[in-house]
Amino acid sequence: MSDDSNKIPRHIAIIMDGNGRWASKRLLPRAVGHERGTKTVQRVIDLCIEHKVEWLTLYAFSTENWGRSEKEVKALMSLLKKYLRDRLSEMMEKNARMHAIGELHMLPEECRDIINETIEATKHNSAINVVLALSYGSRQEIAHAARQLAMQVAAGELKPEDIDETMLSQQLYTAGMPDPDLLIRTSGEMRLSNYLLWQISYAEMHVTPTLWPDFGREDFVAAINDYASRKRRFGKR
Ligand code: FPP
Repeated sequence: MSDDSNKIPRHIAIIMDGNGRWASKRLLPRAVGHERGTKTVQRVIDLCIEHKVEWLTLYAFSTENWGRSEKEVKALMSLLKKYLRDRLSEMMEKNARMHAIGELHMLPEECRDIINETIEATKHNSAINVVLALSYGSRQEIAHAARQLAMQVAAGELKPEDIDETMLSQQLYTAGMPDPDLLIRTSGEMRLSNYLLWQISYAEMHVTPTLWPDFGREDFVAAINDYASRKRRFGKR
């Protein structure tokens, strides 16, 4: 493997923050900010395909987001449905495969149905894997994995001393997916917000003040360049 092949992250995870602020600055309803945010989603998928990024994981709705107003939650759910419905043919054209992680059973049935249909329809696509984190919380995910392993122990199928990192990883929603190499957060906050805490152990972080609806090619290239300039040592010298 040449040095250059390490410079493009194989997996980018993004905390898409700042839709609300983008809208407030323009005296628009928050939902308009989210709507503009979906346009950025498409732009970033295209940029990832162009740069041969294989995996893109987007924090579209956190477990904590259920605490927002009913109106905003409804707006986000209908945007999600609309996005998946309107963009399926484009995803097929672009050879993009869709996945979803999180407590999907918490989502309204109509959303779940369309998510499952999209996952099924795109399952043979291979240009990029787009993972939507929906009703996702990292602590909840790890607790769920621990429960799964505990049940196997209780059933006598597993010895506690045999539990290792690989086994726990295999019980996460992200089982079978590579860990993110680069984590991008927009709108300047220096927080992880319960996102992929296990999986980003060795990821490089890039925080930009740009609000998510404004995140464009220049911001994307800046993030990739920032990543390429880092020396990843994975705790070694
Ligand atoms: C954070 O902005 C963003 C969200 C809570 C949701 C992200 C959702 C989208 C980009 C649209 C739906 C996604 C898909 C894939 C169709 P915020 O509301 O927290 O912004 P603020 O911090 O400025 O208030």
